[in-house]
Amino acid sequence: MRNGLPATALRAPGAVAQPARAAEPSPLLQVDGVSLEYRTPERVVRATHRVGFDVHAAERFVLLGPSGCGKSTLLKAVAGFIAPVEGEIRLDGHRVTAPGPDRIVVFQEFDQLPPWKTVHQNVMFPLLASRTLGKREAAERALHYLDKVGLARFADVHPHQLSGGMKQRVAIARALAMQPRVLLMDEPFAALDALTRRKMQEELLALWDEVRFTLLFVTHSIEEALVVGSRIALLSPHPGRMRAEINSHEFGLHSTGGAAFQATAQRIHGLLFEHEGAVAS
Ligand SMILES: Nc1ncnc2c1ncn2[C@@H]1O[C@H](COP(=O)(O)OP(=O)(O)O)[C@@H](O)[C@H]1O
Ligand SMILES: [Mg+2]
Repeated sequence: MRNGLPATALRAPGAVAQPARAAEPSPLLQVDGVSLEYRTPERVVRATHRVGFDVHAAERFVLLGPSGCGKSTLLKAVAGFIAPVEGEIRLDGHRVTAPGPDRIVVFQEFDQLPPWKTVHQNVMFPLLASRTLGKREAAERALHYLDKVGLARFADVHPHQLSGGMKQRVAIARALAMQPRVLLMDEPFAALDALTRRKMQEELLALWDEVRFTLLFVTHSIEEALVVGSRIALLSPHPGRMRAEINSHEFGLHSTGGAAFQATAQRIHGLLFEHEGAVAS
């Protein structure tokens, strides 16, 4: 509703409210004019301003922007932890109002695994807590996904015995085991060394090839966005606004040294920072 009018009153004459045509599957996830704020008694911080994008099933959609532009806040809103002050987020056409097992987040931090549980128990835990599966089925499914990330042999060890990259693999297995509608990843490889990071990107893409999950991936790295994403939303510096959408389907780990990759990276760099001086006015 705007100006007290029902939404339909704002449509062009003759337009009829009806579902999208069958030939165009409607997006799985719709972020529609979303503004997000942090409110304290002293002040209001606007994190994003009217951000909008659609994510289709089995896409690898990347949110790219400089630190502080609201990427994590957006991901938290999609996860259902924060409510928009303006706009709406829809999953399968239904408004997101709370967290749910259909949206699982993998964070950057290595301490997202409870240290007193084994790797296997860590992966089983959300399946049991959400009553998605019984104990035996949960144990089987957890092993299945641990195997997919190459860690079946480490099922009975505790997280402190694992490297950072291995912990992130466990977090990914735990998220995928829930078979979420959308997998949300917030700079999951940012704290890893460069070689491990590259290896993890490779493994994530191989996993996607096999499982075809829908991914919403946050990064501040232009190169990572081009490698991981099939489509990229560029966000401007604080507060985040949509600056552009880039099709990055053609790029992968094999293309990082190529001329087309470098040209696109340059273009994105320009788009992200060209207005920086002008914004202050
Ligand atoms: N808990 C919070 N309280 C107040 N402001 C916050 C909080 N978390 C983040 N912010 C502010 O919101 C903006 C967006 O933050 P964030 O979503 O973390 O950005 P990004 O993930 O892109 O680095 C920043 O200006 C940040 O300082
Ligand atoms: Mg962040």
